Amino acid sequence: MSSLRLRFLLVHFLCCAFASSFITINPLVFGLAACRPDQIQALLQFKNEFESGGCNLSSYFHGVTCDNTTGAVTKLHLPNGCFTGMIKANSILFELRQLRHLNLSHNNFTSSPLPSGLSNLNGLEVLSLSSNGFQGQVPSSFSNLTKLSQFDLSHNDLTGGFQLVQNLTKLSTLDLSYNHFSGTIPSSLLLTLPLLSHLDLRGNYLTGSIEVPSSPSSRLEHLFLGHNHFDGQILEPISKVTTLKELVLSFINVSYHIDLKDFSSLKSLLNLELSGNILSATTSLISGSDVPPNLYRLMMKSCSINEFPKFLKTLQNLERLDLSDNQIKGKVPEWLWSLPRLSIVILKNNSFNGFDGSLHNSSVTMLDLSLNNFTGSLPPPPLSIKLFLASRNSFTGDKPLSTCSRRYLDALDLSYNNFSGSIPQCLGKFKILNLRKNNLHGIIPNAFSSNSLLQTLDVGYNKISGQLPRSLVNCSSLRFLSVDHNNIKDLFPFWLKVLLDLQVLTLSSNTFHGPISPPQGPLGFPELRILDLSDNKFTGSLSPDYFVNWSASSSNKIYGDGEMYMGDYTNDLYSYFYALDLQYKGLNMENEMVNTFYAAIDLSANNLGGHIPESIGEIPQELGALSFLAYINVSYNQLKGEIPKGTQISGQPESSFEGNAGLCGIPLQESCFGTSEPPTQWEKQVDDEEEGEVLNWRGVAIGYWPGLLFGLAIGYVIAPEWLVLIIGLNKGINR
Ligand SMILES: *[C@@H]1O[C@H](CO)[C@@H](O)[C@H](O)[C@H]1NC(C)=O
Ligand SMILES: *[C@@H]1O[C@H](CO)[C@@H](O)[C@H](O)[C@H]1NC(C)=O
Ligand SMILES: *[C@@H]1O[C@H](CO)[C@@H](O)[C@H](O)[C@H]1NC(C)=O
Ligand SMILES: *[C@@H]1O[C@H](CO)[C@@H](O)[C@H](O)[C@H]1NC(C)=O
Ligand SMILES: *[C@@H]1O[C@H](CO)[C@@H](O)[C@H](O)[C@H]1NC(C)=O
Ligand SMILES: *[C@@H]1O[C@H](CO)[C@@H](O)[C@H](O)[C@H]1NC(C)=O
Ligand SMILES: *[C@@H]1O[C@H](CO)[C@@H](O)[C@H](O)[C@H]1NC(C)=O
Ligand SMILES: *[C@@H]1O[C@H](CO)[C@@H](O)[C@H](O)[C@H]1NC(C)=O
Ligand SMILES: *[C@@H]1O[C@H](CO)[C@@H](O)[C@H](O)[C@H]1NC(C)=O
Ligand SMILES: *[C@@H]1O[C@H](CO)[C@@H](O)[C@H](O)[C@H]1NC(C)=O
Ligand SMILES: *[C@@H]1O[C@H](CO)[C@@H](O)[C@H](O)[C@H]1NC(C)=O
Ligand SMILES: *[C@@H]1O[C@H](CO)[C@@H](O)[C@H](O)[C@H]1NC(C)=O
Repeated sequence: MSSLRLRFLLVHFLCCAFASSFITINPLVFGLAACRPDQIQALLQFKNEFESGGCNLSSYFHGVTCDNTTGAVTKLHLPNGCFTGMIKANSILFELRQLRHLNLSHNNFTSSPLPSGLSNLNGLEVLSLSSNGFQGQVPSSFSNLTKLSQFDLSHNDLTGGFQLVQNLTKLSTLDLSYNHFSGTIPSSLLLTLPLLSHLDLRGNYLTGSIEVPSSPSSRLEHLFLGHNHFDGQILEPISKVTTLKELVLSFINVSYHIDLKDFSSLKSLLNLELSGNILSATTSLISGSDVPPNLYRLMMKSCSINEFPKFLKTLQNLERLDLSDNQIKGKVPEWLWSLPRLSIVILKNNSFNGFDGSLHNSSVTMLDLSLNNFTGSLPPPPLSIKLFLASRNSFTGDKPLSTCSRRYLDALDLSYNNFSGSIPQCLGKFKILNLRKNNLHGIIPNAFSSNSLLQTLDVGYNKISGQLPRSLVNCSSLRFLSVDHNNIKDLFPFWLKVLLDLQVLTLSSNTFHGPISPPQGPLGFPELRILDLSDNKFTGSLSPDYFVNWSASSSNKIYGDGEMYMGDYTNDLYSYFYALDLQYKGLNMENEMVNTFYAAIDLSANNLGGHIPESIGEIPQELGALSFLAYINVSYNQLKGEIPKGTQISGQPESSFEGNAGLCGIPLQESCFGTSEPPTQWEKQVDDEEEGEVLNWRGVAIGYWPGLLFGLAIGYVIAPEWLVLIIGLNKGINR
């Protein structure tokens, strides 16, 4: 049997250039009726101080507010990519002295220091410079901005200390999170800022402790200190800030164990995050009266807990609970399911082995049981369930039919268990269904109606037979279809090309047969990114224009860890987005995130002949000059002829093409002018790299909750295969 394996190309898309133009403008057109002409001129000049920007004049002026009586600019709200470059030391911006509100977050001031000229704008009440790449220390002149009430420098690369903020006595919100600030928190910070209600210092290198005023005059309600290196006592002082409603102390790397009793005085506390710290051994003994009574959200991921915490029983307001990455053994107690408001429960990665009673009447909408030691049959999930994750356990028994009667359930992951029986008829109700690596047999029911919302179906590694159900054409939202490693006998599903969103199609290791090429013309499937047809009985050859429709016209988000964003699904409680791990394809990203075109093609171990089509190494002209990543492998095949020339292909190692008797040209040693060898019958090659998983799955769930509490993240990995992450949406995803 011949084998042809071919994968390829990754091309960076860089932002399109912005052509800045300069014209006299009609203030009325841009809604600037209240602005004085000199102010408009100054605004135009400020825009022109930057070479390029991602916004046009109308979106630029959209962010401008002028005072009706004086005509002076009082508010500039210009976040999100209007500016790239440095703010000049003598920028006209610093002349807009009537400014009270300046928001320049999410621009790109290219690693420049914070301009000290901003201190001229001493009427500022709101200043946001977050997510801009600013470096260096906060200029001491900023202590002149004494009217500031909201000050946001988060997500930059600022260093040093921030003593000077003590002079900003009107501050109510101070956000210095995710920088490189070091040293201790200024000792009198909370004393000199009597109005401070929101303090976010997460993600820095702060050490020491924190001091709090002795009088209970504080207004501090939201305190975020997580991901720092505090080495002093910080629980004792914090326990005096009885105004606190939310407290985030995740991963503060203290050397001592944290005792929950220290928080018992915080009667107003609604949200408590302690993930990544070691809780004291007495945690399981603590009684309900020792913890804040109104907790609504409790995050205790990776806290070395080994017994189910009984105090939870008294938390009648608890809605969200994360106990993942602990070592809790035994059964999940029945009383948990009777907490009246419980909605999101994450028990992933413990050693639970069963349930002490029924979940049936619980109010839970999202339940994650992945990576535990559950055995036996799956308990019927709560009636209210929407998202149910139980992968990587040892559940057995017949198909979990109870999931069919759950009206709201539309995302179900039961992968990596040992379920038997057939695939439930109700599969058409899901948006996301992952049944990978079980023991299921029978056919995939032909049960997709025209209102199907299916986005993802993975039934790989089962014993499924029959054909692909033709009603899949009804799933117009389908992006991901994986039926690999089953006994499916069918022709190539050309008919799936009506699914215009389909990005991933894996049919490998089945008994698909017949021609791989449509009767005429290219393959189609304009959004397809990953096509894995390996180890089937496909025949024929690839027409020269086979891949021409695979233009790089649309890009995928690829994250630094090699995950490709695959789409999401949202309801009122959370949104769930999933990504595909591309690292197995040799992808190694240096950037944090790129928008890119990525494609991988695996046609190995079929009965294909002919030439490698030119269209596989095509790089769109407009991208040819940019940097790109590529991985191509066509080794061990019966391909013949010259390897197409092109940057994507010639950059590959020789091993990507070896084992093709009839193939010649760069990068192979065989030149196309040499002797032509007779075709050889090649044994089917089992490639080490192909063993095990072809696709490594990641899913990400994002939880959001509007209102009072925000910016709280539960991040967690469900399994090497699925990643689930809950993040406060209104704070955005930190990637
Ligand atoms: C300006 O940009 C905004 C947002 O990017 C867009 O909606 C609008 O159509 C653009 N206007 C013009 C005149 O190009
Ligand atoms: C300023 O003018 C706008 C509309 O022109 C109006 O909506 C707003 O109320 C005015 N503000 C003051 C303070 O007069
Ligand atoms: C600044 O603008 C960003 C983006 O619109 C927004 O998320 C943020 O809340 C604003 N900051 C302030 C202090 O208004
Ligand atoms: C910011 O701008 C610099 C220089 O123009 C560029 O190299 C960098 O990639 C940009 N960063 C982002 C996040 O866009
Ligand atoms: C701060 O303000 C004072 C008086 O308003 C002024 O004398 C001083 O120069 C300012 N400092 C800086 C660094 O701007
Ligand atoms: C900040 O305030 C302190 C007193 O609290 C004062 O000594 C110092 O001069 C102030 N710093 C600036 C730069 O205004
Ligand atoms: C955590 O603290 C220990 C000392 O207690 C230190 O050795 C270690 O480097 C710290 N870890 C991090 C990530 O800072
Ligand atoms: C499970 O939790 C342990 C800590 O208890 C952690 O070391 C491990 O990496 C976690 N495994 C996964 C797959 O998240
Ligand atoms: C669920 O609640 C109903 C009504 O309160 C009750 O009749 C039923 O027995 C409960 N079911 C389970 C499994 O607890
Ligand atoms: C749970 O399962 C894991 C992996 O199957 C195993 O290593 C561990 O010993 C089990 N733990 C318990 C408490 O049974
Ligand atoms: C899965 O269940 C079948 C019986 O249905 C059993 O023969 C097999 O050993 C089980 N596999 C595992 C890995 O537990
Ligand atoms: C698509 O769904 C409709 C019902 O909504 C059904 O009648 C039709 O047969 C389905 N299409 C296919 C190809 O099965």
